[in-house]
Amino acid sequence: MDQNTKDQVVIFDTTLRDAEQTPGCSLTTREKLEIAHQLARLNVDVIEAGFPVSSNEDFEAVKRIANEVEGPRICGLARAVRLDIERAGEALAGAPKTRLHTFIGSSPQHRAMMRKSPEEVLKMAVDAVELARAQCENVEFSPMDAVRTEPDYLYEMVEATIATGATTINIPDTVGYAVPDQFGQLIADIISHVGNVDDAIISVHCHDDLGMAVSNSLTALKRGARQAECTINGLGERAGNASLEEIVMAVLTRGDYFGIACDVNPKEIINTSRLVSRLMNVSVPPNKAIVGANAFAHSSGIHQDGVLKSRDNFEIMAPQDVGLEQTQIVLTARSGRHALRHRLEELGYELSPEDIEKAYERFIVVADKKKEVFDEDLIAIVSDELTDIPEKYHLEYMHTVSGTGMVPSATIRLTIDGNSEVQESAWGDGPVDAAYKAVKTAAGTEARVEQYAIQAITSGAEALGEVTVRLSEGGRAATGRAVSTDVIEASVKAYIDGLNRLEIQAGIQRQRAEAV
Ligand code: KIV
Ligand code: ZN
Repeated sequence: MDQNTKDQVVIFDTTLRDAEQTPGCSLTTREKLEIAHQLARLNVDVIEAGFPVSSNEDFEAVKRIANEVEGPRICGLARAVRLDIERAGEALAGAPKTRLHTFIGSSPQHRAMMRKSPEEVLKMAVDAVELARAQCENVEFSPMDAVRTEPDYLYEMVEATIATGATTINIPDTVGYAVPDQFGQLIADIISHVGNVDDAIISVHCHDDLGMAVSNSLTALKRGARQAECTINGLGERAGNASLEEIVMAVLTRGDYFGIACDVNPKEIINTSRLVSRLMNVSVPPNKAIVGANAFAHSSGIHQDGVLKSRDNFEIMAPQDVGLEQTQIVLTARSGRHALRHRLEELGYELSPEDIEKAYERFIVVADKKKEVFDEDLIAIVSDELTDIPEKYHLEYMHTVSGTGMVPSATIRLTIDGNSEVQESAWGDGPVDAAYKAVKTAAGTEARVEQYAIQAITSGAEALGEVTVRLSEGGRAATGRAVSTDVIEASVKAYIDGLNRLEIQAGIQRQRAEAV
């Protein structure tokens, strides 16, 4: 949509122009095309594809995007000088849906920088729009640094450029100086002071130097602006531009307040954000509204319980609305049983209340040691904790000592057959060897370790370690397995698990012998 109707806002994306000017964010023509096609899927109304006079690559990119990308209107930027305007006109020539955007600094600061009087700048603006109209039917004019421009002079410039044929007048807060009330008032004042304002769409273009770009843009829309210029992930010069995803989701989520609509397909927001982040090489902060990794993640027990009972308890938008699969429940030490059961069910584990209780106890132990408990941790916990092996030997207590220049030793206490407790100490070649000797003596077994393997099964320094031990005794063999964030504990538990499995085999052999 490109017409000024009461309830529609034109979404003008300038990721490929304003954001691409950011050092380190430059894109190849192929990458620009890829983003432009994605912006078309996102269904933005206008794509500002580049600044054709700035380089041959930019010229080529604007030309190709204007000819190859279907849907949005494609815009090229030009300073208010003949060379720029003609080059932009050339890049856009022959393409089906184009816009030429020309600008000049209107504030006292910018006029002084150009050493031009107000009258000279006004004339340059009008001449630029006239020339642009000769190249393209759809012309946008920006009085750059409008926010710091004298209001009466600004009204005069807006009126004159509309009279010359500008179809959109963009009011930039080039240096991010505006505050919402003041900026909203400026837009309202332009609308009430400029006689021919209905002949153009009033647009806003806010930078985020004081962190108010989105608030300023939204306030302007509330006060009558009908185009918002913005970028994906809020990228752009210095602190960036107003973020497209935040403006769009505010307009869509708070339609009750803003009373306006836009045609953007929000389900493409995440895809677009990820593509831009990858190609421009700027990662999205986890707490960034709408597209940050934590934007739909709940980690406190109360929030998790609430959101699982009913999403709108703690979410004003559904993650699916912006193209995410689902709400993320981050399992941490603050999570409750409800969240654990929910995630286990998603992983395919339907556990009895007793088993959930057992898994939860184990989960809390792991969660206390790790910042976040991942799916692979849960699978390890469930298979470790809930595989029912009758326990002849149960580890009650263990203490190991090791270090450089000392003899490693271990003290182990086992419960045997659920009643008697046996405690033993031993020394060895390392803490695991010492612990194994102590277990052997306490259990009164001759089981030999045939194989020992340890592997990290989750990532990070506090990862869960899985130990498997192959034991043999009296012609029988069994493999014990255990998981813990403490690899010595995992080693001892794996050994004891192996002993319990050997004991099961011994029991089966005894039953067979008695049956014969
Ligand atoms: O910030 C600005 O003023 C601009 C103009 C070119 C619109 O980017
Ligand atoms: Zn800008």
